[in-house]
Amino acid sequence: MDDSITTGIRAASHDLPVSAELAAFLSGRWAATPLPGDIRLPVAELTPARRARLSARFPGERLVIPAGELKVRSNDCDYRFRPHSAYAWLTGLTGEDQAGHVLVLEPDGPHGHEPVLYVRPRSPRDGGDEFYRDRRHGEFWVGRRPDLAEAERMTGIRCAHLAAHHKLPPGRDALTDPELTSVLSELRLVKDVWEVAQLQLAVDHTVSGFEDVVQALPRAFAHPRGERWIEGVFGLRARAEGNGTGYETIAASGAHACVLHWIRNDGPLDPGHLLLLDAGVETDTLYTADITRTLPLSGRFSSVQRQVYELVLAAQEAGIAALKPGARFRDFHQACMRVIAEGLADWGVLKSADGDLHRRYTLCSSGHMLGLDVHDCAKARAAAYLDGVLEEGQVLTVEPGLYLQPDDETLPVELRGIGVRIEDDLLVTASGARLLSGALPRTPDAVEAWMGELIGN
Ligand code: GLY
Ligand code: MN
Ligand code: MN
Repeated sequence: MDDSITTGIRAASHDLPVSAELAAFLSGRWAATPLPGDIRLPVAELTPARRARLSARFPGERLVIPAGELKVRSNDCDYRFRPHSAYAWLTGLTGEDQAGHVLVLEPDGPHGHEPVLYVRPRSPRDGGDEFYRDRRHGEFWVGRRPDLAEAERMTGIRCAHLAAHHKLPPGRDALTDPELTSVLSELRLVKDVWEVAQLQLAVDHTVSGFEDVVQALPRAFAHPRGERWIEGVFGLRARAEGNGTGYETIAASGAHACVLHWIRNDGPLDPGHLLLLDAGVETDTLYTADITRTLPLSGRFSSVQRQVYELVLAAQEAGIAALKPGARFRDFHQACMRVIAEGLADWGVLKSADGDLHRRYTLCSSGHMLGLDVHDCAKARAAAYLDGVLEEGQVLTVEPGLYLQPDDETLPVELRGIGVRIEDDLLVTASGARLLSGALPRTPDAVEAWMGELIGN
């Protein structure tokens, strides 16, 4: 539990005392400031159907879906808060002010539930000192929250004071109950039309971020930690257009690209190297893109870089072609890997394309569901995800890669230290799949032309 509910104000040891006279002065003569306009969230039209699907799975059971709690970074400083994805999906609420809030589905007879949202109301002005003294929740410290009536209008859900939640009996909790956790992941596998639009928006902003990065390359080259410069440029776009990045940006130059999740990003840029940029903007509604492009930092691929790139691209094309409703989730991965294994055998790196030895160079699977989380629906059980079949409305990444480690003695010297991943975001449609991230070039020629246009070479 957030201890400020029981212990009062979250102040710091170095805060100056407040005199009685000052407290009295602060307690009055504030104008009423209701939230203006129509504050109903557009997604509030969709959340009742989402809650109804959840309700039908747990008749007669009390369901507790917390937004999650703030986490201390140090002393009185917290990490920036992002609500749990299930909470966001069921309420439509996505802001930093949701910390500590809880959605409860109360059984309403043998079938159905009544949703109740337990929220911390707006800091009162005429009683208590929270609004000017509480560093975690005070309106003058962190900004205005809706009051209960406003939160009801925003969500269409009956709202109650957060303090009342702590007096209720326990129920299945989405953060700890494995069955509820799995069902919540599985219910989110198929996206509705609004969610697909949010994902397209995330992709569109991500495309802008990639363009920003290419335009910033001359500055990034000049910095001893050019990777970090690139991370910052992408992060600027992500923060300006949306909530931020959907995951830590991977800006991996040269052999750093052989580390799948290289987020240290502390290396320099060398014009003779490739840059693997894996980054995604998360919208204010918390949907994220997840895109990777591997770019020649000089603007032109060398012949060996192009050789590796073209094999990964062919693998990705094969994977994309395998996407359609009814195909097994594993099919597109296997299609990608077949192309890679045959390519490695053609190069003489492997004696045969059969078996799984190619995995020394591919390391991870070729894609995953995408949505509110970058690795979306991760708690879905194997029958619904890993061993399941694709359905229209699912969104996923196809992201084969070749990671040719710099110290790999099985490889010809010229291939060592090259890492290439190409990652796109796709919507499964009735007949196949729609590429959401097609605005970014994928073929080597198109990548070179695009870079040339942006940098002006
Ligand atoms: N960005 C992490 C991934 O591609 O899965
Ligand atoms: Mn991915
Ligand atoms: Mn990625």
